[in-house]
Order: sequence, then structure tokens, then C-alpha cells
Amino acid sequence: MAFIDPMTEDDVAAVVAIDGATVGSSGWDEAQVRGELTRSWARLWVVREEQAELHASVRAFLCAWLVADELHILNVATDTTHRRRGHAGRLLTHALRFAAEQGVRMLLLEVRRSNAPAIGLYRAFGFTAMGIRARYYGDGEDAVEMVLRLDELGQPLPGRDEVRLSRHENL
Ligand SMILES: CC(C)(COP(=O)(O)OP(=O)(O)OC[C@H]1O[C@@H](n2cnc3c(N)ncnc32)[C@H](O)[C@@H]1OP(=O)(O)O)[C@@H](O)C(=O)NCCC(=O)NCCS
Repeated sequence: MAFIDPMTEDDVAAVVAIDGATVGSSGWDEAQVRGELTRSWARLWVVREEQAELHASVRAFLCAWLVADELHILNVATDTTHRRRGHAGRLLTHALRFAAEQGVRMLLLEVRRSNAPAIGLYRAFGFTAMGIRARYYGDGEDAVEMVLRLDELGQPLPGRDEVRLSRHENL
């Protein structure tokens, strides 16, 4: 059974391992994750999955910053061997519920332009492309800025892409 928990110090090594195994990893190290855990405006959650004879293992994590009425999603990743099992979706559903409770009106994030799985994930939740940040990443790749607006009851509002990603990328 998979369930969501707030991230703790005990999860840091597992989270860094999941992040590090990712192509185009954000490069978070243990100090950075610990730093996030100390920020009052940061929210970090993990998905744990119970295994038969072992304690629950971390399968995925999400880190976000709550800034006034905006929730900035900084990082989300799922263990490479446990993808496409709904873990990131669970985390985003949880983040959306949290956002609604907090009166958030806008969820924001940046994603690599080539990151079709992540863009697919965000689109599945109603995020749309709001802008392009040229050469945003250290290796020169563009970032796509994505947004999901919520109404005063915390319900997602339908939106449309404000920028075209690429007719070749089929995103
Ligand atoms: C993007 C990522 C977090 C998705 O995690 P996941 O746990 O596999 O995602 P889920 O199983 O919850 O998928 C939920 C939905 O997202 C979309 N999605 C997920 N992976 C996808 C893929 N490879 N291609 C297209 N859509 C995808 C689908 O709509 C999927 O629903 P479905 O499986 O019913 O079709 C994962 O691929 C990952 O860790 N990538 C590396 C880290 C990363 O790029 N993070 C984003 C930083 S901005």
C-alpha cells in the first residue's frame, strides 16, 4: 500500500538517491534537502510503500514552496523502478488539496522543455504552458513555465497554453 507522509531527516538519503538517479537530475545533495526541511515556507512530502517484511520504502518525493497565495513546485521525482504507478500523481493530488486548504490561487513550476514525462504529468493535472525561459538550465536547455490557477474554492480553473512549445515535440 502506498501512502503520503511529510518528509523527515530519515528520508534524506533515499530522496537524494531518487533525485540522483534521474536523467537531468536537479543535483540535490543531502545538505540541500536538509536545508529545505528547515525552511518554514517549504513543504516536502514522500510516498512510502509498504513491503511484505520490510518497513515502508520511499518511492517518490515532492518539494514545494508556499509563497503568499502561490505554491511553487520545486522538485518531484519517482524512483526509476517505480514509475508509472501513480506515485507522482498521488503527490500532486496531495499538493493540490494542500493548496486548496491554504487558499492558494496559483501553482507554478519550471520544467525542462525536453521533459515529456513531467510535462505529461503536469498536463494530466491541468497545468498549461505560460512561458519559456530561454537557457534557464546550466546546460543551456530552456525551461517551460507551467501554471495551474485555482478558483476561490480551490478548484482548478481550465487554462490554455500561452506559448507554443514546439510543433515537433508533440507536447
Ligand atoms: C515525471 C515523473 C515524476 C512522473 O512520475 P510517475 O510516478 O512515474 O508518474 P505517475 O505514475 O504518477 O503518472 C501520472 C500521469 O503522468 C503522466 N505521465 C507520467 N509519466 C509519463 C511519461 N513517461 N510520458 C507521458 N506521460 C507521463 C501520465 O498522464 C500519467 O498517468 P497514466 O500513467 O495514467 O497515463 C517521473 O517520470 C520522474 O521522476 N522523472 C524524473 C524527474 C523529473 O523529471 N521530475 C520533474 C521535474 S520538473
